[in-house]
Amino acid sequence: MGQADHIPHPSSNVQFFIFLFLLLLVVYYTLKFLQIKRKYALATLEQQQSLDTRINSTINENLVHQNKPANTWQGFKNFKVIEKKVESWTIYQDKKISDICSFVLEPIETPKPLPGFLPGQHLSFLLDTPVVPKTMYYSLSDGPNENTYRVSIKRALPPPNTPGIPAGIGSTFFHDMIHEGDKVKTAMPKGHFFLNCKSTSDVILVAGGIGITPMISMAKSLNSIASERKIILYYGVRNLEETALIDDLLELSSSAKNFTCYLCLSAPQSAIKFDKPKNKQNKSIDKDTTKTELNPQNSDTFEDRDKKIQSIINDENILIVTGVDSDGNLENSLISKGCRVSVKLMKYHIEPQNKNYDFYLCGPPSMMKSVVTDLYHWDISKKNVHWEGFGPCAVMWPGDILNSPLKPCTVTFIDNEKDQKVYLDWKPASGSLMNMADEKEDVAPKIPRTCGAGFCGTCKTSFQGKVFYENKPGFTGLQPNECLPCVCKPDGDVILNLN
Ligand SMILES: Cc1cc2nc3c(=O)[nH]c(=O)nc-3n(C[C@H](O)[C@H](O)[C@H](O)COP(=O)(O)OP(=O)(O)OC[C@H]3O[C@@H](n4cnc5c(N)ncnc54)[C@H](O)[C@@H]3O)c2cc1C
Ligand code: FES
Repeated sequence: MGQADHIPHPSSNVQFFIFLFLLLLVVYYTLKFLQIKRKYALATLEQQQSLDTRINSTINENLVHQNKPANTWQGFKNFKVIEKKVESWTIYQDKKISDICSFVLEPIETPKPLPGFLPGQHLSFLLDTPVVPKTMYYSLSDGPNENTYRVSIKRALPPPNTPGIPAGIGSTFFHDMIHEGDKVKTAMPKGHFFLNCKSTSDVILVAGGIGITPMISMAKSLNSIASERKIILYYGVRNLEETALIDDLLELSSSAKNFTCYLCLSAPQSAIKFDKPKNKQNKSIDKDTTKTELNPQNSDTFEDRDKKIQSIINDENILIVTGVDSDGNLENSLISKGCRVSVKLMKYHIEPQNKNYDFYLCGPPSMMKSVVTDLYHWDISKKNVHWEGFGPCAVMWPGDILNSPLKPCTVTFIDNEKDQKVYLDWKPASGSLMNMADEKEDVAPKIPRTCGAGFCGTCKTSFQGKVFYENKPGFTGLQPNECLPCVCKPDGDVILNLN
C-alpha cells in the first residue's frame, strides 16, 4: 500500500503545470501592462512638456504674471500705430464709412519683446478725445507676437432714428482721428476672460458681431502652438459684407490643422450695396466720398473685398449657414431668411456626452444669454463655459440663479441732486445692481459706466448695507463704503447714494 500513496496522481501534475502556466501568464501581462503604462505616461509627459515649451515660447504666458520683468510697465505707455486697416464698411447718412478698423501697435517707450498676453485679454487705452479724456478697452485681436499688438474696433454709431444722439466717443476717435504714425497710450494686457491653453479639450468659440476679436486671438494662438485641439468657431453676423477679419479667417482655414468656422448669417440679403467708383483706374477709396481719413493702401478696394468674400464662399473650412432644414441639413442660400448662432445648431456638430469641450462666448448679451441658457440645459458643466460682454452684460448661469445664496431684497437709489428716491425689488435673476437698474431704465437712474466689468471704477458708488462679488473685481482702491454696481449684488437690503 504505502508506495502507491506517495506517487502523485498524474492529474495533480497537470493541474500544477496549468497553475504555473497561468501564473506566468499573469506575471507576463502585468509586466507588459506596467511597461505600456509607463511608456504612455512618459509620452504624455513629453507631449505636455513640449506643449508647455511651445506655449511659453510663443504665448509667453509666464511673463504676464511675473512681477516686474524688464519689458512690462506700469500705467500707460506710448505706442505707435504702424498699420491701420479697414476690415469692413458701412453706410451712414449716405456716406460710406469704415465700420471695423484694425490698428497694429508698436511700442515706443518700452523694450521689445512685448509682454505676452493670454488669448482673450484686452488692452486699455487712455484717449485724449476732443470731447473728454476717455479710458477705452479693446480685446487683442491677433495671435502672439513679440513686436506688435493688434486691436480691431467697431465704430459705435448712434441708435437709428434718434436725432441728436452723438456717435460713440472712443471708437469714433479711433476711426476718424487716429492714423498711421500716430501715438496712443496703452496699458499692459489684462483681463479675466482668456483661453486655457493647457487644456486638451476641443474648443468651441462662439462670436457675435465684433465679439469675433477675442475669438480670432484664441484660434490664432492655438494655431501658433500647433495645438492638436479641434477648433469650431460659430460666428454670427448679419451678412457677408459685415463679416470682419476675413483675412484672419482665411489664414486660419488654410494653416490651422483642425479649424472649422460656421458663419451664421442672420440677414444674408441685407448686404450693403456700395456704389463702385466711376473711374475704374482709380482703385483706391475716394476720400471725398468717405467721412474717414484713410490710407488707401490699407483699405480693401471694392474688387479686393469682392474677391475675399468669394474666397469665403468657396472655402471648405468656412461654412456659410443661413438655415437648417427639417432633416438637419445646413442651408447656405444667400437668398434665405437667415439663421442665428444657437445650441440647436451646435448639436449637429458636437457630442458633449462623449467628449469634453471648452466653450468661449463673446457677443451681444441676447445671443450669449440664449446660448448660455441652452448650454446649461444641455448639461454642460459651468466650469467649461466662459463668456465676456463688451460692457455690462446681464448673462447668468441658470444654475447660479437657482442656487443663489442671496435672498430677494430691496435696493434704494438715492439721487440727492434730484431729491429723488427709487425703490426696486432685487432677486437673484436680476443680476448685478447695474443690470437691475438697466432693466428698469424707465424708473431707475442710469449708473455711469465704462467697462461694465469691474476694472475701470467709473461706476463706483457709495452705499449702505452689504454687497457680494462673485469674483474679486479688477479695480482696486474702493473705500469700505463704496461698491462697483456693475459687478456686485446686494446681500440684504442696500441703499445706493448716487451723488
Ligand atoms: C473687456 C472689453 C473688451 C472690448 N473689446 C472690444 C473690441 O475688441 N472691439 C470693439 O469694437 N469694442 C470692444 N469693447 C467695447 C469698447 O470698449 C467700447 O465700449 C465701444 O467701442 C464703444 O465705446 P464708444 O466710446 O465709442 O461709445 P460711447 O461713447 O460709450 O457710446 C456708446 C453708444 O451709446 C450711444 N449714445 C451716446 N449717447 C447716448 C445717449 N444719450 N442716449 C443713447 N445712446 C447714446 C452712442 O451713439 C454709441 O452707440 C470692449 C469692451 C470691454 C469692456
Ligand atoms: S463700469 Fe467699470 S468698474 Fe463698473
